[in-house]
Amino acid sequence: MVKTNFLGLELKNPLIVSAGPWNRDGGALVKSINAGAGAVVTESVVSDTLLDVRPRIACDDKGAQNIRLYSDIQIEGWEREIALAKNAGGIVIGSVSAQTPSELAYLASKMERYGCDAIELSVSNPAMESLEVVASHPDVMYEMTKEVVSSVKVPVMVKLSQNTTNIATVAKAVKAAGGAGVSAINTVRGILGVDIETAKPALSTYGGISGEYIRPLGLASVATIAQTVDIPLCGIGGVSSAENALEYIMLGASAVQVGTAVMREGYEVIGKIARDLENWMEIHGYDSVEQVRGKALRNMKSFDEMKFEPAVSTVEDMPCVDECNRCYTVCVYDAIKMNENNVTVDKNECSGCGLCTFACPARKLRLKW
Ligand SMILES: Cc1cc2nc3c(=O)[nH]c(=O)nc-3n(C[C@H](O)[C@H](O)[C@H](O)COP(=O)(O)O)c2cc1C
Repeated sequence: MVKTNFLGLELKNPLIVSAGPWNRDGGALVKSINAGAGAVVTESVVSDTLLDVRPRIACDDKGAQNIRLYSDIQIEGWEREIALAKNAGGIVIGSVSAQTPSELAYLASKMERYGCDAIELSVSNPAMESLEVVASHPDVMYEMTKEVVSSVKVPVMVKLSQNTTNIATVAKAVKAAGGAGVSAINTVRGILGVDIETAKPALSTYGGISGEYIRPLGLASVATIAQTVDIPLCGIGGVSSAENALEYIMLGASAVQVGTAVMREGYEVIGKIARDLENWMEIHGYDSVEQVRGKALRNMKSFDEMKFEPAVSTVEDMPCVDECNRCYTVCVYDAIKMNENNVTVDKNECSGCGLCTFACPARKLRLKW
């Protein structure tokens, strides 16, 4: 039921473990495969391995910041690592990273020869590439994709960045160059936080933010591409549950990648998401991922299409005994009144902004037309 076809590959489920140190070698890839992943992406392979800076990964309850710079295994070493993953029965996507089309094509053809089922071009790392990631230039992406596509027979996917003006233009360039799909998004340039007692930022330079912080950005990127370009899409950013995976699928993704959740919760999170996804689909009567794909896109409107009809909040399930006051506090229009364990909405004051319907933890408020 949760099988999906992505890049022409038959995945047993749409959960792909993304590029990162959790997939740093063959042993780690096998852990992802045994945990139930539909496919795995290797940590990005480069021509010149660099010494890692220390420390390089910070995290909090919502996500992480990293300045980890690619795989520390030389390209030739990946022959052995990929063989381990293939022997474990996994679908392996080889991630490669470089600054020039010919270097990318060289690395991609080696990864293909070692047994990778597809290639992902990682040209969107905000930690390494500073203010302008390579993937922010459609013309450069066209040249890079074209060169790699002409050098390998396996499908080529390009990992895009939210750190760009128009992600759809880049996706169009990838499609025009023969790319089989795009994945979006890579981490987003940021600083996780500052320790105000020591005046030290989480890491001592800018890095890539991942996890829950970037899910809204990933969702918007996937929706934008899905509305503009007809190309297979893999959603990335802050997936840690079946609900999150479904959000991406409903906005047009055929598969999703999971990174930070594996790093923070362990490989078992993959099996849990897969089981929860299967249960959800069964309960809701879906037979395939394809039936769910894009369902929320139909409910997306452009700003101009939004109707300015009069709408006011109403409260259901009264009297409200939760005493959280959340609706009252957030109502900047002074329309919510609290009186003796009851909540009422003054229809003359309510302007229908909708904020209280999201703020109420029990979802007791509705907007009514
Ligand atoms: C520590 C760390 C290392 C990463 N290394 C790579 C990498 O080698 N290549 C790559 O394309 N993306 C890399 N990423 C980005 C992830 O694959 C993923 O795109 C990003 O973290 C967003 O997904 P998430 O919120 O599920 O983690 C890395 C992320 C983290 C946190």
